[in-house]
Amino acid sequence: MGPLLYFALSVIQLSSILATEQIPLKCFLQDYNFFNIFDTSAVKTSSNVVPKTHSLHFDTVTVNSAGFDIDGWKHDGTNIKFQGLNDAILDEFGFNFTAKVLQLTFHTDMVVTYDYKSSGTLFSTPINGEGFAEVSLKNIQVSFIVPFDIKKDNDKKFIELKSFNYSYDIRDNATFKFLSLTSTNKELSESIEQQINQRWKYLTVHFGKVFYDSLAEKIFNVLKNYVMNFPLKNFGEC
Ligand SMILES: *[C@@H]1O[C@H](CO)[C@@H](O)[C@H](O)[C@H]1NC(C)=O
Ligand SMILES: *[C@@H]1O[C@H](CO)[C@@H](O)[C@H](O)[C@H]1NC(C)=O
Ligand SMILES: *[C@@H]1O[C@H](CO)[C@@H](O)[C@H](O)[C@H]1NC(C)=O
Repeated sequence: MGPLLYFALSVIQLSSILATEQIPLKCFLQDYNFFNIFDTSAVKTSSNVVPKTHSLHFDTVTVNSAGFDIDGWKHDGTNIKFQGLNDAILDEFGFNFTAKVLQLTFHTDMVVTYDYKSSGTLFSTPINGEGFAEVSLKNIQVSFIVPFDIKKDNDKKFIELKSFNYSYDIRDNATFKFLSLTSTNKELSESIEQQINQRWKYLTVHFGKVFYDSLAEKIFNVLKNYVMNFPLKNFGEC
């Protein structure tokens, strides 16, 4: 375990008062390695199996497609790969059993690659091209607010995450590389790319949401399956 993750573990807050039951933090950390939840092999195993490996694999999160058509710019991505969760650092993680809300905040550097098709206009310039895109996000912070219910199955209590709210903030910067935004004119293409990079904040806030939505949805689903496997009753026994 790298020093960064070790640090992250130590800042986990678990506010965990469930009626009279307390969930000791040590149980949580010993038995459930939060940091491997994005391991795709863990996701594929049956929902009854709690991943217990202590190796850290976040792997790449892949989304088949996402796209937008905003202010005259149409931009569709396929085979979207989000890399960087491997090095994510938890800023905040806690269950509030009074408000029944799980809070999760982490930050990381991320590289997003995809195949794109783009048309319409951006910055009053006509765009018509397709190719490979690479977006580098330095210090993206993602926060989730996740309401949950405590469900009871036979004698076992578990947490069911209901829905989520999330927000993202790119705190350092973003760099965009597009292969050929206009198929006819290389200079124009480079000029648009330059403008995109100069106005990265506007781009990520105004147009990017649908891409982050698709990532957030994946993270939520992984989290939901994962948390479902916490048998609350057993926490008292470790
Ligand atoms: C949990 O939620 C309750 C109700 O909203 C709030 O009063 C309390 O401060 C929260 N606890 C923590 C540790 O945030
Ligand atoms: C972007 O942020 C990183 C730190 O995360 C910094 O090293 C880099 O120089 C910045 N790039 C630009 C173009 O500002
Ligand atoms: C989610 O965010 C919206 C808009 O900010 C807000 O109205 C809603 O109450 C939030 N829901 C939760 C569960 O926090």
